Amino acid sequence: MSNHTRVRKAVFPVAGLGTRFLPATKASPKEMLPVVDKPLIQYAVEEAYEAGIRDMIFVTGRSKRAIEDHFDTAYELENELENAGKEAMLDLVRSISPPDMNCLFVRQPRSLGLGHAVLCAEPLVGNDPFAVLLADDLMRGEPGGPGVMKQMTTAFHKQGRSLLAVQEVPLEQTRRYGIVKGEPAGGPLMRIDEIVEKPTPETAPSRMGVAGRYVLTPAIFEELRTQPKGAGGEIQLTDAIGRLMSSETVYAFQYVGRRYDCGSKEGFLEATVDLALQHPDVGSSFREYLKTLSL
Ligand code: G1P
Repeated sequence: MSNHTRVRKAVFPVAGLGTRFLPATKASPKEMLPVVDKPLIQYAVEEAYEAGIRDMIFVTGRSKRAIEDHFDTAYELENELENAGKEAMLDLVRSISPPDMNCLFVRQPRSLGLGHAVLCAEPLVGNDPFAVLLADDLMRGEPGGPGVMKQMTTAFHKQGRSLLAVQEVPLEQTRRYGIVKGEPAGGPLMRIDEIVEKPTPETAPSRMGVAGRYVLTPAIFEELRTQPKGAGGEIQLTDAIGRLMSSETVYAFQYVGRRYDCGSKEGFLEATVDLALQHPDVGSSFREYLKTLSL
């Protein structure tokens, strides 16, 4: 055990439009797209909960009401399930929001970027370290092992410095990520000395791409408040992290597990197939079905 403040709060920036998934996301939030039987946002919230986080802070926007409803009590549904004696389903519905979990919502009035979304959460985060989880990135630890956020909070509680989840990405895809360069700092940690948002393959300082999981110290807010627009004309979290590095050490964290980019159709389909194969109800019949396909 160490003295570092424990991570109790997570920020979920969910105000984005999800244009890569039109027409599905015309009237429904992209974070509510289900992988097998659970919406993307629920996977992210469960990952944070497993890491000991209890305050879930959603930075929402227009037409994101379904996310609030998903984590709220559904009286009519619960009554009907209760009256019909469908106990298992009732438990399933109630388990979405365990009694010790708090959901807090704040609106991001304009789409000014991920950095701006995180800044919108400052009044709810205050002066504590916090996690950021991008629900588009569905992260799975190894079977039976800790989830990615749990791995990160465990590391944070030992060293108390900001952490970004990273993985190696193909050179031709550096334009999709924040890219970091750093020095090995023991085990899964790298001390970052350079970070760039969405560089071209020619200018990328490495192939280490940031996945959508962060543990940040509250000092990041100071940087975000004065952060000018960067790549894509947006206020980038990556750029503020770059500035934070001049006052605090920031580590890249090579997680154990797998990331599915569910903001893209391919990643979403891969997640659907893999998670369906692992699903207790449909896994084995789905496997049999896949075997009948002549691909
Ligand atoms: C965001 C971040 C980027 C990170 C990526 C991970 O980009 O800005 O640094 O690598 O998430 O998914 P976005 O995918 O929102 O464009």
